Amino acid sequence: RTLDGLTELLQSLGLGPIPEHLASADLLHQPVDIFHVYLAEALRELVGCGAQQAFDAIQPANSVGNGDLDIVLPRLKLADGPPLQDLAADLAKKFPKHPLFVVPWNDGFHVRFFLSPKTLPLVVIPYILDRQDGYGTFGTTDLNNTDLPHSKALIEFSSPNLGPEFRPDHLRSTFLGAFVANVHEAMGWHAVRINYLGDWGKHIGLLGLGWTQHCSEEELENHPDPFRLIHELYAKMEEELKPKLAAKKQKARDKLDGAAEEETDKEDAIFIDRDAAFQKLEQGDPSAIELWERLHRISTSYYTRTYDRVGVKFADSPGESLVCRNPEALARVENIIKDNGLSEFTEDGLTIVNFANHDSAKLGVATLRNKDGTTTYLLRDVAAVFDRLEDFNFDKLVYVVGEHDHHFRQLFKLVDLMGRPEITQRLHHLSFSRGTKQWGDAKLLGDVLDRVQDTFDALELEAVPPCLRDPSKFKTIAINNLIVQELNARNRSHTAGTDLATLIQPEGETGLSLQVIYAKLCDAISELQRTVKASEYSPDVVDLSALSEAPWIEIVRLLARFPTITSTAYKTLEPSGVLSYLFLIVEELSYCLDEEAEGEEGEGAKQDVDGATIAAGNAARLKLYQATRQVLENGMRLLNLVPVY
Ligand code: ARG
Repeated sequence: RTLDGLTELLQSLGLGPIPEHLASADLLHQPVDIFHVYLAEALRELVGCGAQQAFDAIQPANSVGNGDLDIVLPRLKLADGPPLQDLAADLAKKFPKHPLFVVPWNDGFHVRFFLSPKTLPLVVIPYILDRQDGYGTFGTTDLNNTDLPHSKALIEFSSPNLGPEFRPDHLRSTFLGAFVANVHEAMGWHAVRINYLGDWGKHIGLLGLGWTQHCSEEELENHPDPFRLIHELYAKMEEELKPKLAAKKQKARDKLDGAAEEETDKEDAIFIDRDAAFQKLEQGDPSAIELWERLHRISTSYYTRTYDRVGVKFADSPGESLVCRNPEALARVENIIKDNGLSEFTEDGLTIVNFANHDSAKLGVATLRNKDGTTTYLLRDVAAVFDRLEDFNFDKLVYVVGEHDHHFRQLFKLVDLMGRPEITQRLHHLSFSRGTKQWGDAKLLGDVLDRVQDTFDALELEAVPPCLRDPSKFKTIAINNLIVQELNARNRSHTAGTDLATLIQPEGETGLSLQVIYAKLCDAISELQRTVKASEYSPDVVDLSALSEAPWIEIVRLLARFPTITSTAYKTLEPSGVLSYLFLIVEELSYCLDEEAEGEEGEGAKQDVDGATIAAGNAARLKLYQATRQVLENGMRLLNLVPVY
């Protein structure tokens, strides 16, 4: 973990001191950078250019079969000298024998290098075993160390609504958001996980209405599952509302004027009553607030329990109800809007922002307050930005929300127009395709999880190694499977979506196959530990050069890439990159573990191999497997998967 430790390791390989420290090299986090730095040094000596210049001319190979590192000659920007193609041929020929590389070849303007399979394991394996769960992370993740400045990222995700059912986009947001938060932590950020519960708005008015019409204290007190009662109450009201809403929409369409939409509310009692109930709540009517607090408590306790089932823990943070908790803060925000000349009043009493008057016609018109003076979703979101700024002083706020693109464009622009462009710069909307519901009649998050876990009751025991055949383990594996299914779309704009029907395929890229290989690996480790101990082979330094051949070396190559995978995941915020990487390991590892099994059977037959060689090989593979297990665990945790053994 320190440069001294690393120097010692490299000296033991017969390498000179670490070449002049280069600003862009990250030796303590990126093992590939070690190779990069030494290659740059050799290049510098051959060409006589500057150290940084040489470093910058080298890049990781962009495709398989093209080596591992690649000198791109035009990047050297040499003022004079031979034509670059000649230089490439010359360099490839003259390149001195080097412990870290095999003989290079030239290819146009490139000189390409494979990392030496002899030394690669010697660098990479101890490196990983030293860094442990820090391997693949950058910067320090020691959040207890307050001396170190940590940039703070708020990650807002999941954000279902109180009352309505939990939707597929909420589910995808839950897992995507957890991943985004984990990735930020891996990059040294202090990540704060926020659930922006939709606990305010007209739907709460509708819920209040349902309460007065269909429910009683007693019923709520005695209900075994009060959160479900709330949802059922809401669903009942929604049923009543639906046909009327459709009619209302039709009328509005006829009028073809968005701003006048509210007007038709008057026609049906249910709209009037709903809006009145919400208005009462916003005005702080004690009985409305008391009921709201009750419903809110029930919902918070339900969600805390249920998110726990998928390993997500949110910081204590207000949902949309922020307004009711802090009307002064809301007033401050509205004053800024007003002072910047942004709000206007329409004839029928709406408070709006017309973006066309602020050079952003594409963003249309947004309502901040309804005719009856109640707040809108947008106004609450603006207030939330400023509230979070005060509470958390964030450097970055990521909204992990399916679609909603127009809304966030309006929100960000509004903050900008409020004279806070520096805040807008910190706001990011991570959009994704919402997917369709394929989980039958499950309505609540807990229902979905139950269904998912139920499908695993049907899992054939033979599909998993004996160490996993335990119903309590099945529960975790089922959730892992769900997460992988949700995140394994090609990218965020592709629909993934949980499909209960295909959830327990053991084959292919599933959480289950990841789990199976992980468990087999753990078994192999225990087995090797036993054999190595019994063989009395205990050198000070295990000779890892036994790993220089396929299939082992292929794993080592993959393991060396892990930090690049996490840093790319941070840049793209696409979980699919991490998943494909883990599945590459699964594939390579299954060859190794097959060999392992064959090796055991054939041990006696290998008469020509002496016992010491076998023992040395076992000890080396043990280290390799331990490092692989570490990387699998680190990668799985990034995706919020729980490795089970
Ligand atoms: N509750 C909203 C919904 O279910 C999503 C909230 C998204 N977050 C936000 N800050 N607007 O659609």
